[in-house]
Amino acid sequence: EKGNYRHYMQKEIFEQPIVVAQTLQSYVRPFEGEVALPTGDLDLATVGRVTIVACGTSFYAGMVAKYWIEQFARVPVDIDVASEFRYRQPVLEPGGLALFISQSGETADTLAALRHARSEQQRIAVVVNVPTSSMAREADLLLPTHAGPEIGVASTKAFTCQLAVLAALSANLARAKGRLSRDEEQEIVAHLQEAPAALNAALGHDDDIAAMAHLIAPARDVLYLGRGPDYPLALEGALKLKEISYIHAEGYAAGEMKHGPIALIDEAVPVIVLAPSGPLFEKTVSNMQEVRARGGKIVLISDAKGLEEAGEGCIATIEMPEVHPLIAPLVYAVPVQLLAYHVAVAKGTDVDQPRNLAKSVTVE
Ligand code: M6R
Repeated sequence: EKGNYRHYMQKEIFEQPIVVAQTLQSYVRPFEGEVALPTGDLDLATVGRVTIVACGTSFYAGMVAKYWIEQFARVPVDIDVASEFRYRQPVLEPGGLALFISQSGETADTLAALRHARSEQQRIAVVVNVPTSSMAREADLLLPTHAGPEIGVASTKAFTCQLAVLAALSANLARAKGRLSRDEEQEIVAHLQEAPAALNAALGHDDDIAAMAHLIAPARDVLYLGRGPDYPLALEGALKLKEISYIHAEGYAAGEMKHGPIALIDEAVPVIVLAPSGPLFEKTVSNMQEVRARGGKIVLISDAKGLEEAGEGCIATIEMPEVHPLIAPLVYAVPVQLLAYHVAVAKGTDVDQPRNLAKSVTVE
């Protein structure tokens, strides 16, 4: 079943262009230049607040969605990990939209959070990969990802498919709220349609990433930095590395470095910087320079333009295609997944079945 791949995780990383395209088919009408949800039942125009709840990688997809929903639809978003949400007595006004994100649809904390939200008169939207799961059954608005079965314990293709769905949902909500012109909607659709090819281009750098894994494999600690919608990608990169290579890693919002974590910097702590060209590029690069000034060893992930401007002096660079900021979180998922994968392979860990972890966490 793994075909020519050595691990399920590797196979699933490489499936992303296809499964993201497959997922987008249910959420965009390219010829009309429109986003469309598979089930249009919920009246999104009346949504005044969105509450997002998930765990792990699905939670990071939710974090990206918060940036998008607030930017496009101007609807306030609360977000919580499910294990906190379910016990903290969140204030939920009747009629709010509660959005749950899960690959398996069976994660115990997320499911319990969903039931709690329902008991508080929330409308329930679910982004889920397993269509027969408990969460899928309990949704008012079911938003399936079409990633196909994900076997590797480390989530990869489910994540990028979640992002594709969440981008379409954000645009849909923005349209329902009268915040999106026809032109803007067409542009969003066009950018989303570019994602599969951009993912493919990102995968084309697999060999470069494999070749630099030895720079990271000996590290005890690794930091990941990003800004805006790419900040959750820094968190996701750190989670992937922890899970399968057992190297301690943390993701930070690039601007937070000088509020503490920069004290950790020395030549033994590689810093992976996610900085696509775009409105936040210069800001992230200036945080990167602060790290470098303190002897930090930097791996810069950016596009040709960004690498030309800021790549000098880095211990390694990973080139991404130049993409619109909307799809950068999908595209930049690829290098962080591949980096974690190749470091784990270099260390000889069990990539598909990392120690202490289960694919689906059905106990709290
Ligand atoms: O099935 P879910 O998306 O609800 O699972 C949530 C987390 O358990 C999951 O994303 C976990 O963090 C993965 N091992 C990440 O790679």
